[in-house]
Amino acid sequence: MEKIIIDTGDSLSGIVVGGRWQAVVKMLPESGVVIITDDNVYDKYGIDFPAFPVIKIRPGEGSKTLSTVGRIIDELLKIGADRSCFILGIGGGVVCDLAGFVASIYLRGVRFGFVSTSLLSQVDASVGGKNGVDAGLYKNVIGTFRQPEFVICDTTMLSTLPANEYLSGLAEMLKIALIGDAALVEIAEKNYGAIMERDRHLMMDTVARTIKYKASVVAEDERESGARRVLNFGHTYGHPIEMVNQFQHGFAVAAGMELAIHLSFEKGLLDNNNKRRALKLLDQYGVVPDYEISGKKMEELISRDKKRSGNSVHFVLIRDIGEPIIEKISIDELVGFYSTFQKNRKT
Ligand SMILES: NC(=O)c1ccc[n+]([C@@H]2O[C@H](COP(=O)([O-])OP(=O)(O)OC[C@H]3O[C@@H](n4cnc5c(N)ncnc54)[C@H](O)[C@@H]3O)[C@@H](O)[C@H]2O)c1
Repeated sequence: MEKIIIDTGDSLSGIVVGGRWQAVVKMLPESGVVIITDDNVYDKYGIDFPAFPVIKIRPGEGSKTLSTVGRIIDELLKIGADRSCFILGIGGGVVCDLAGFVASIYLRGVRFGFVSTSLLSQVDASVGGKNGVDAGLYKNVIGTFRQPEFVICDTTMLSTLPANEYLSGLAEMLKIALIGDAALVEIAEKNYGAIMERDRHLMMDTVARTIKYKASVVAEDERESGARRVLNFGHTYGHPIEMVNQFQHGFAVAAGMELAIHLSFEKGLLDNNNKRRALKLLDQYGVVPDYEISGKKMEELISRDKKRSGNSVHFVLIRDIGEPIIEKISIDELVGFYSTFQKNRKT
């Protein structure tokens, strides 16, 4: 078991990797806890939940809306949750984002923590204090920055995840490896079998490594004004691909990473060997999906990217395995590169 502390200066948050999730009871107050979860997680684990009121949401991104927030708040009021209540999110990224957001705004903010049950939420969604919901097609445009008191990542829970959800989480893990942890790239290259079998111990190690990297970046830049931007590797192209194709987040990011790797090579930053190595890793795990999105649509959606600055985007490239670099690149150049890449791919 490993405990990783996230210290942003304003707040401390502890992430426990490898312990059994049932130990969460020891971290909760004796009363006033309300659990937020989704139907799938409740079906698998509800029987062992601590004895507190449970608010269930429908699984999936479709629940990450202000109307679900309204419903959860109505239920909290019905339960009589007051300022001393504690919200415990038990679930994947959708549950954690919703639970963290509700806890940030309910009665102007109450205590909260997570049991993070999907690989994506263990390595990404529950680290960093970003909470929020979508508005129509636009993901995560309403939200807050607030750190949970704790996050528990029990890698045995990964054994019940559907295969595509597991792979989508792996894609995020590979993202962190490619931008920040060359040793993790090597672990992933050498342990394909054990990783695909979801070996609890190996996953404890890889999840902890991934969290440590993200935590170090978040500690430096909680509000995403500088250093944290590296975490957007694969996102500039990935978000439009996700919006049009409705993939799980990790697959869209993997498609975006593939493009970013090629662009890094094209710009003379990444040498041929490392380009091939990075692409081979994505290929080995089969995380890049087939996708369709026209150059025009790509342009429209990149132009609406909330991280855009004028006609440019702070784009994350890599100059070596584990070495990211951010360049301001014009939307015209990005769309031009994308269109040429797609044309060459088809011929
Ligand atoms: N806040 C952040 O920093 C951040 C970062 C990355 C992603 N996210 C958000 O996270 C969300 C995606 O997270 P996700 O992939 O976990 O999606 P999710 O929460 O929808 O979970 C995926 C599916 O797996 C099921 N599930 C979860 N854990 C399970 C388990 N142990 N066993 C069986 N089934 C299980 C869920 O019910 C759901 O059907 C997106 O909304 C994304 O925007 C947030």
